[in-house]
Amino acid sequence: MRVLITGGAGFIGAHLASALHGQGHHVRVLDDLSAGDPTGLIAGVNFTRGDVRDIPKLWTLLQGVDVVYHLAARVSVPASVLYPHEYNDVNVGGTVALLEACRDVGVRRVVLASSATVYGDQPEQPVGETMLPRPAAPYAVSKVAAELYLFNIGQLAGFETVALRIFNAYGPGQPLPPVHAPVIPQFVKQIMGRGSVVIFGNGGQTRDFVYIDDVVDALARAAEAPDVDRQIINVGSGEETSLDALVAQIGATVGEKPSVLYNRETSGGIQRLVAGLAKAERLLHYRAATQLADGLRKLIELDPRFRQSD
Ligand SMILES: NC(=O)c1ccc[n+]([C@@H]2O[C@H](COP(=O)([O-])OP(=O)(O)OC[C@H]3O[C@@H](n4cnc5c(N)ncnc54)[C@H](O)[C@@H]3O)[C@@H](O)[C@H]2O)c1
Repeated sequence: MRVLITGGAGFIGAHLASALHGQGHHVRVLDDLSAGDPTGLIAGVNFTRGDVRDIPKLWTLLQGVDVVYHLAARVSVPASVLYPHEYNDVNVGGTVALLEACRDVGVRRVVLASSATVYGDQPEQPVGETMLPRPAAPYAVSKVAAELYLFNIGQLAGFETVALRIFNAYGPGQPLPPVHAPVIPQFVKQIMGRGSVVIFGNGGQTRDFVYIDDVVDALARAAEAPDVDRQIINVGSGEETSLDALVAQIGATVGEKPSVLYNRETSGGIQRLVAGLAKAERLLHYRAATQLADGLRKLIELDPRFRQSD
């Protein structure tokens, strides 16, 4: 199969590119390197630097492609509150540009990396795909819009589409920017460094942390599975973990007893979030294989930024 991954030099994209290349597929990556790093791509993956809104470039890259993974996006919830116009431009505008090019060139299937943030606060957990989205930040709104354009343009143009709502992915190589860093690499760095973390909110808010290999497994399955056209599918671990429990688990993994400072000026965002995975099991035969304790151990073993010296 010939595959194009937009945003393929990013965290999830680079892992996906390696896995698909290893399975014998021909993999092209388009990434503007606003956050990604092409040195994370293995030899044999064909890299092009460019913007996903550049339709002529997309026409060239889409020649002969069967399946498109659309991962290119701005990805920070708090940054999206500050820069909603940019988030709309890239995440919505980029999706529409890509879909238009897919229509014009002709592809078999487009797989969208959507996000669990579209659920927002829901009265019931675990969350299922039929629940009404309650996006609480522009990033989440942009993902709802991207899903709607995906299904609409795919249906009008006659190509297959599927959106995976990915929960909190973590694993080696996840970017650790100085501001708005994702919670797991940030906590690991803080606990291994000064031994303390700052939690926004009361620490009781829960998330579903899913190891990168499981996310990649679901994405790979989504390219080939029958009966997924115009479906939304959750991809998580199914484990609900509070931030307090996460800190304790990281502490146990690295052999530290972290101290926690709580910043209660903000609520800490969505209060509870855990994936219902029945649909992923049914349509993708997906089962998360990595529990949090094992995933954290792998992260610390495999990511050179966290490798412990004896
Ligand atoms: N990591 C998670 O927990 C998570 C959860 C839910 C959804 N997602 C989605 O999965 C996708 C990948 O996320 P990630 O964690 O790998 O983030 P990431 O920032 O590492 O990867 C995104 C990539 O997109 C590229 N990019 C951004 N704007 C672009 C543009 N205009 N043109 C071309 N490339 C562009 C960046 O350079 C980066 O390499 C995103 O769509 C994100 O919204 C991620």
